[in-house]
Amino acid sequence: MELRTERLRLREFMAEDWRAVYAYQNDLRYLEFYAWEHRSEPAVKSFVQRFIDQQQETPRLKFQLAIVLPNDKVIGNIGIRKRELNVYHAELGYELDPREWHNGYAAEAAAAMLKFAFEKLRLHRVMARVNAHNHNSIRLLEKLGMRQEGRLREEEFFKGRYWDTLVYGLLEEEWRWRIVQSES
Ligand SMILES: CC(C)(COP(=O)(O)OP(=O)(O)OC[C@H]1O[C@@H](n2cnc3c(N)ncnc32)[C@H](O)[C@@H]1OP(=O)(O)O)[C@@H](O)C(=O)NCCC(=O)NCCS
Repeated sequence: MELRTERLRLREFMAEDWRAVYAYQNDLRYLEFYAWEHRSEPAVKSFVQRFIDQQQETPRLKFQLAIVLPNDKVIGNIGIRKRELNVYHAELGYELDPREWHNGYAAEAAAAMLKFAFEKLRLHRVMARVNAHNHNSIRLLEKLGMRQEGRLREEEFFKGRYWDTLVYGLLEEEWRWRIVQSES
């Protein structure tokens, strides 16, 4: 499977992509809102392998794709993940190499993934979970039209403290309404 946007290609992961992922997942800006202190080669290899294994699922529930620049550099990943076959909701998840932040790439990739979710997978609802201090990610979710639906107080503990999680959601009709508005 592959999706194209104006500036990006979203393609299936390949085993050799682990090097690009390893490089950015050890950036302290990336690690800030994860429990990980650092990322080892085996851990990153199995992280990438998980996405490769998803490609073999039949029927397929999870679509986590590499975000690739025109020069073939892998700069992150984005995906939509259903938990079970017969449900009409799924979770959106993404990450970008910090050297590529603030270029609008995550927003561009996420718009394509939402279109795939609502039009091809025919989902009714997409949700996302985000650390309440992760302002870049919260800004992205709100730019996509997602609404904050809840706050899971002190849901996680890592790096010496508890962290709240925010839950965001977007319904198909809300997504369609925004498309119509942006085209008019
Ligand atoms: C969350 C994350 C993907 C957001 O990345 P991002 O680059 O800030 O997101 P966007 O693609 O929405 O880019 C928005 C920025 O690009 C700027 N921009 C520049 N050119 C642009 C263009 N052509 N189109 C749109 N925006 C553009 C916007 O003005 C905005 O700037 P700002 O951040 O200074 O306000 C990134 O912070 C990340 O990978 N974090 C670590 C992993 C993580 O937290 N994942 C999410 C877990 S819930």
